[in-house]
Amino acid sequence: MLEITVILLAYLLGSLQPGLWIGQTFFKKDIREHGSGNTGTTNTFRVLGKTAGIIVLILDMAKGSIATLLPIWFGVAIHPMLAGAFAIIGHVFSIFIRFKGGKAVATSAGVVLAVQPILLLGLAVVWVSVLYLSSMVSLASILTLIVAAIASLFVGDWVFTLVIWIAMIIVFVRHRSNIERIKNGEENKVSFGLGQAK
Ligand code: G3P
Repeated sequence: MLEITVILLAYLLGSLQPGLWIGQTFFKKDIREHGSGNTGTTNTFRVLGKTAGIIVLILDMAKGSIATLLPIWFGVAIHPMLAGAFAIIGHVFSIFIRFKGGKAVATSAGVVLAVQPILLLGLAVVWVSVLYLSSMVSLASILTLIVAAIASLFVGDWVFTLVIWIAMIIVFVRHRSNIERIKNGEENKVSFGLGQAK
């Protein structure tokens, strides 16, 4: 029973949409109607600015990390990565917004932070480097998830690897429109710092 409660809590945590709610509460803006229409961190930066973006980045990551640590805190025999996977699923298919949601990047980063912080550091370097070279957050996210999936073959156990590969597939599917725009040379670009879409 406690196991199911933990999984449910992880899903509910992941379902929280701070970008959307901060926009509606403090900016009277629904970020789904602006920018890329995504409810995640990048679109929050783009639509609501740097401060809101940083807060949402922290919250989107925190919900992934907290969900992943729930099995340990509750002392239940569930693999932390399973709870993390449910947080990612919640972020993407949120119960609070009719099973829509974000693109899984920041929440996945939070999950990795909870179990493999050193790996996350390396992935952050990859993400920042690709962003710096391409000015495209989406490309940075997609390539970083590919690197994460490859790295997961060598780091952590098989459940970690499985969840990271699932996260990579989710990130790919959720970035379909970005991939189209990248191919057509039409993807949003940032000029440093983040948040100023060209
Ligand atoms: O983390 C999401 C990012 O990779 C792309 O977001 O809003 O540009 O589609 P967006």
